[in-house]
Amino acid sequence: FTSTALTGRRIMLTAGPTWEAIDPVRGITNHSSGMMGYALAQAAAEAGAQVTLISGPTSLTKPERVTSVDVVSACDMHNAVMERIAEQDIFIGVAAVADYRPVDSADQKIKKNADEMTITMVKNPDILADVANLEHAPFCVGFAAETHDVVDYARGKLERKKLDLIAANHVGGSETGFGVPDNAISLISRDRVLDLPKQSKHALARRLIIEIADSYQKKNEK
Ligand code: PMT
Repeated sequence: FTSTALTGRRIMLTAGPTWEAIDPVRGITNHSSGMMGYALAQAAAEAGAQVTLISGPTSLTKPERVTSVDVVSACDMHNAVMERIAEQDIFIGVAAVADYRPVDSADQKIKKNADEMTITMVKNPDILADVANLEHAPFCVGFAAETHDVVDYARGKLERKKLDLIAANHVGGSETGFGVPDNAISLISRDRVLDLPKQSKHALARRLIIEIADSYQKKNEK
């Protein structure tokens, strides 16, 4: 499908997990596979947008007709986004970005000499919030993975981070959310909640891109 609202529009997405190194062979990460973000990148390209995908470590094949930049850590992802954000019309944060990273990453593999070890962590930059706070911010779409009170928590993030839309994932069970082919989402804007029940991430991505295009167009008409 093509969307006139998106033809030639520049859309940047983040996808996948981040990897916060503890030493050269160990790190802290999460179960994001990148599937949701890659499906959205593909759907946006199919709708006629110029897509830039900033991806954490995944095993997925890159979608066709998408410019991609591979990153490892949350700080790398933040830099890659900020370097290119000025040219973007729409930003979609799908990545499961680590909230914290180890203060120090050892240069050599840590040996198991001590009976206990403590890893001190420091907060990572919030990529989505930094993008939404730019003076000339693009249209911003966030994702939120929640296990309970999904809509309430997501609405809180929408307002706090000054987003245009937030896609709230229902991640309680094992059938939707992280690392599986299906997802279920409530798409929340300031004035409505659209429930999109369990379906493949590819089907959901196409539907979400239509909704995002629609809201983006309405905002620009104002
Ligand atoms: O990759 P898959 O296996 O397909 O799984 C998809 C998914 C479940 C990871 C995805 O659909 C999803 O929900 N991603 C967001 C995960 C999350 O928990 O986000 P959050 O609540 O920590 O963050 C909220 C928003 O802020 C997100 O848009 C996130 O990209 C962004 N964020 C968060 C922290 C940070 N330091 N920088 C950010 O940009």
